[in-house]
Amino acid sequence: MAQQGKVDFGEVRWGSVEWTNLGTLYLRACESRSPRTILGDHAAAEAVDRIDYDWTRMRRYMQPWANQWLVALRAAQLDTWSADFLGRHPNAVVLHLGCGMDTRAFRLHPPREARWFDVDQPKVIELRRKLYDDRAGYRMIGSSVTDAHWLDGTPADRPALIVAEGLLMYLQEAQVRALIQRLTDRFTGGELLFDTLSPAGPRLSKVVSKGVVTWGIRDVRELERWNPRLRFLEQTSPLASYRRIPSARLRLLYRLMSATSARKYDVMNRFAF
Ligand SMILES: C[S@@+](CC[C@H](N)C(=O)[O-])C[C@H]1O[C@@H](n2cnc3c(N)ncnc32)[C@H](O)[C@@H]1O
Repeated sequence: MAQQGKVDFGEVRWGSVEWTNLGTLYLRACESRSPRTILGDHAAAEAVDRIDYDWTRMRRYMQPWANQWLVALRAAQLDTWSADFLGRHPNAVVLHLGCGMDTRAFRLHPPREARWFDVDQPKVIELRRKLYDDRAGYRMIGSSVTDAHWLDGTPADRPALIVAEGLLMYLQEAQVRALIQRLTDRFTGGELLFDTLSPAGPRLSKVVSKGVVTWGIRDVRELERWNPRLRFLEQTSPLASYRRIPSARLRLLYRLMSATSARKYDVMNRFAF
């Protein structure tokens, strides 16, 4: 049962995976307070207000004035694609993989007929459960997505929307392939939305983050060769939407970045199957 009122997250160790999730939650919350918010993630702001944590230290580290925009632009693109799918398939099953503390399930207001599953590692889901309960149409699953069994509890007879934001780069390529195979084997059709890093991602990670990033791909269309059921629909960079950033200074910075190869570093992909 979720706790009421303030919830103590003091156990979250600085620098841990759970801490990273609090970092992106914090950035989305900050961005939602902008008068011209891109993502409008008010559920994130409510969560931050409820969570007892050292947000002052988080603010110093995360520098939201600069970093909230990239996080908001990426999430907003995936929200747009998700809302489009849910508009066409209100009875969809949604698998939100590597959900972390993301509030996509609440900010999108999925149709009542939809079945939404937030999936992440058991420790992350344990933390989520301090804030949220399962409810009609919404369930959390604490499991590695590489485990063969977590899919068993999901309805296989509905159009499937699968969203993986900031997840696949932490898996090995063989795990990504096996996961996609299991998903396309289980469902008769749907869409797969996810971001990928270029091969520079794992190389850079060896230098700056102990090699936690393990998978990068130059041309995501290669996935069509891995799995003939997949059909590439589109790809974009979060930087491509720089015009939505309200601050002129940062808009210019993002515009300059979008003109360099930085736009190919982290891209969002949409596939049908
Ligand atoms: C960078 S965070 C992104 C979280 C969230 N999508 C967001 O944008 O705020 C990566 C998330 O992927 C989860 N993750 C990594 N490997 C996983 C696995 N094998 N199975 C399930 N979740 C995994 C982590 O626990 C973490 O919550």
